[in-house]
Amino acid sequence: MKIKNICCIGAGYVGGPTMAVIAQKCPEINVTVVDINDQRIAAWNDEDVENIPIYEPGLSAVVQEARGRNLFFSTDVDAAIDKADMIFISVNTPTKTYGIGKGMAADLKFIELCARQIARVSKDDKIVVEKSTLPVRTAEALKNILDNTGNGVNYQILSNPEFLAEGTAVDDLMNPDRVLIGGDIETPVGKEAVEALVDVYAHWVPRERLLTTNVWSSELSKLTANAFLAQRVSSINAMSELCEKTGADVNEVSKAVGMDSRIGSKFLKSSVGFGGSCFQKDILNLVYISKSFGLHEVADYWEQVILMNDHQKRRFAAKIVQTLFNTVSGKKIALLGWAFKKDTNDTRESAAIYVADYLLNEQAEIVVYDPKVSTEQIYTDLDYLNSRSSEENRARAKVVNTPYEATKDSHAVAILTEWDEFKDLDWQKVYDEMLKPAFLFDGRRLLQRETKEAIGFEFYAIGS
Ligand code: UDX
Ligand code: UDX
Repeated sequence: MKIKNICCIGAGYVGGPTMAVIAQKCPEINVTVVDINDQRIAAWNDEDVENIPIYEPGLSAVVQEARGRNLFFSTDVDAAIDKADMIFISVNTPTKTYGIGKGMAADLKFIELCARQIARVSKDDKIVVEKSTLPVRTAEALKNILDNTGNGVNYQILSNPEFLAEGTAVDDLMNPDRVLIGGDIETPVGKEAVEALVDVYAHWVPRERLLTTNVWSSELSKLTANAFLAQRVSSINAMSELCEKTGADVNEVSKAVGMDSRIGSKFLKSSVGFGGSCFQKDILNLVYISKSFGLHEVADYWEQVILMNDHQKRRFAAKIVQTLFNTVSGKKIALLGWAFKKDTNDTRESAAIYVADYLLNEQAEIVVYDPKVSTEQIYTDLDYLNSRSSEENRARAKVVNTPYEATKDSHAVAILTEWDEFKDLDWQKVYDEMLKPAFLFDGRRLLQRETKEAIGFEFYAIGS
């Protein structure tokens, strides 16, 4: 079975880049990415490819090559579903904010809407691929809806979780460690569907990296991978606090530990706390699933990863207050970076939001600079927490276009995202224009202590 037409519902951080790469690598397959958000689709279709809605290194070049050839962005969801032999569901699955499982379970309402729409529109057999991260056994629910509301056509459900990391999405898609495809491998039709998706990826991914499993292993592997990665960050962040008390340096500990090949060196960078759309959401989801099976020890074990992360964000903000003579009321604090990591404009669950909120609660005046995040997004993030009125957020938090506007006349500067450009700022100029003593807080271990102290900064870095 050869796939000729792919439809992807959801033109977000996952759907957009993934489909752009599939289209680039498979010129004979037509790929249509659809979304209910017409502004987002318009941005994907913007004549100037630099204006696409997601900033990812290398992505605009891929879109430039494939768009209009075999890559299309559209709001006509029905038409794209109708035409496709394979449909990816890549809509968001936020943590529920209401009802049962509030604050923990994944909200599957968008997934269900997609399933119902596919069932309504489809006139021939389809392969439906879960790309969104989902609780284990969601495929079953999906199949149930499709089989019971459909027009009698056959559906095969595959799970194909995404492992790309933002900021390196294009590279991760081009050279994945593995591609995981879960399907009904016990039956011939299920196997055929799995093979059809394997063939798509085999255009550029070596066969030995295409891993096929049953659907539930695939769904659970995604949650497990994110939980393990987040756990490493929380583990090293726990050590960072101990380092600060004992005179050890967390970077040295991390290097020494990471050189043990059984442990490995990645994801051992201490920080102000992990953010991003996935880690917290997926772990909460794992906790919720474990609890729902009565596995309370398992649930508590994973919940601790989140609690440690919350502690790290709070601890960093509290350190600023404490160092500034126990009050930041009316003081200007410059926050460098708002994105949850460098090389992305994504701010979901960014540690910066929580640090800013803490400081605003302490009556500080904050000034934010981030090279890629829009002013509007920063206010949306603050407003979302509901800690104060949106007028007050606009009055007490300012957003500026250069780092020096942020740092000028400030009492303290805090690095919250590890953007490369912050390493190369004219730190002497920053120092000269700040109030004294000039406090510098490095939440990312980005800067060298010696050179900053030589300039005259009072320097604090996580874990040393
Ligand atoms: C995805 C996933 O789907 C999520 O489960 C995973 O954990 C992270 O990646 P992401 O691509 O980052 O989410 O989300 P987002 O950038 O919000 O994109 C989702 C898109 O789906 C949005 O553009 C939204 O408008 C669209 N959408 C949502 C639809 O087109 N239809 C819907 O019914 C709901
Ligand atoms: C993650 C997973 O890596 C990816 O496989 C999955 O598909 C989606 O979730 P992402 O959230 O985009 O990707 O970025 P990631 O690089 O994992 O970083 C997550 C957060 O952890 C960031 O805030 C980052 O700054 C932080 N982090 C990461 C650390 O603080 N220290 C580290 O050593 C690594």
